[in-house]
Amino acid sequence: MATRWSARAVAVGVGVLLQLAVLLSAPTAVAAAPLSVDFHAATCPQLESIVLSSVQAALQREIALAAGLLRIFFHDCFPQGCDASVYLSGAGSEQQEGPNLSLQPRALQLVEDIRAKVHAACGPTVSCADISALATRDAVVVSGGPSYAVLVGQLDSLSPASANLVGDLPDPSITSVQSLLDIFTTRGLGERADLVALSGGHTVGRSQCSFIRRPPDDDFSRRMAANCSVNPRVLQNLDAVTPDAFDNGYYIALNKSQGVFKSDMALIRDRSTAPIVRQFANDKAAFFKQFAISMVKLSQVQRTDGNVGEIRRSCSRTNGQSLAEEEGFAASS
Ligand code: HEM
Ligand SMILES: *[C@@H]1O[C@H](CO)[C@@H](O)[C@H](O)[C@H]1NC(C)=O
Ligand SMILES: *[C@@H]1O[C@H](CO)[C@@H](O)[C@H](O)[C@H]1NC(C)=O
Ligand SMILES: *[C@@H]1O[C@H](CO)[C@@H](O)[C@H](O)[C@H]1NC(C)=O
Repeated sequence: MATRWSARAVAVGVGVLLQLAVLLSAPTAVAAAPLSVDFHAATCPQLESIVLSSVQAALQREIALAAGLLRIFFHDCFPQGCDASVYLSGAGSEQQEGPNLSLQPRALQLVEDIRAKVHAACGPTVSCADISALATRDAVVVSGGPSYAVLVGQLDSLSPASANLVGDLPDPSITSVQSLLDIFTTRGLGERADLVALSGGHTVGRSQCSFIRRPPDDDFSRRMAANCSVNPRVLQNLDAVTPDAFDNGYYIALNKSQGVFKSDMALIRDRSTAPIVRQFANDKAAFFKQFAISMVKLSQVQRTDGNVGEIRRSCSRTNGQSLAEEEGFAASS
């Protein structure tokens, strides 16, 4: 017992030293310490409570933000690891790439607002990447979904992901499970259970009309198409059963062929994934268990930069950009 505690104390001590190194050397990029659940325990003990209370308050005002956060997290992590690269805005950023597909601006802003609160309380010790990961987990929980451990200590990227890497994000018109698996395998998410459970992110949220499956060939898709022809700006619920609750409604809908995208329908049409869809439709706990496992995997997608980066002072800009802007201001005022 005593040895375990002292080993833990040493681990925390090392974490503090490494974080000090990050602070002292800012804004120069550094290589980070290994990720852990209690990376910020000593330097920002209020972190988790600030994030949770902020997410609770925001979702109470607007439940759709939960889906916004979850999709942003997927789009952040998939191209080159969970490095907040998707939060960078402006020319050349990932937000300008095709698959940005309307990331919710208010969800991006929510993470920036939480960052400001955390940095006000603890100093600039926590990255936008970590705040995004924690806020996403909390949004899943507040919406009714499972909790899971979030490994923190990620640094924010120094630049956006390349258009090539962003272009690896899956396309909703894919009809083949094998193609989806091939894409997910490149990011270490190649188990069928990962693909089916992570697609379950569509238990919350909405889609623009441009992505719904076409041509309409059954009752459900004809109703979707009819809605969209009446009003092309109407958003289509991704879970036709319980649109805003994080539950297994998406799989119950899929089992009735009520999937919104071709990529959703592929999961019930393919003989190798249909049994997993039916299992999750039958058993919410089984879905939750696998979703938690697969989200932890998603949060560990290999970083192409090896977790070299910085603690951004604003999630939408690198510190270099912030500095250049401040100097520009100083020079012109
Ligand atoms: C299997 C591959 C996937 C495809 C092809 C796909 C595609 C899409 C598309 C086209 C949209 C609608 C975007 C828009 O209307 O602008 C969407 C929305 C969404 N996706 Fe996925 N997605 C996939 C996997 C995932 C994963 C792994 C997650 C998270 C775990 C996720 C979470 C979401 C959420 C929450 C929304 C709704 C966003 C909102 O309401 O703001 N998706 N997805
Ligand atoms: C997403 O990308 C398109 C170009 O593909 C661009 O026109 C649009 O402004 C981008 N959206 C956001 C939120 O940046
Ligand atoms: C179409 O619109 C109606 C009315 O807004 C809505 O209840 C329904 O969920 C929409 N989608 C489908 C597939 O019927
Ligand atoms: C799935 O659909 C079949 C009919 O196609 C039905 O018998 C079964 O009860 C459904 N399962 C769930 C869990 O909804």
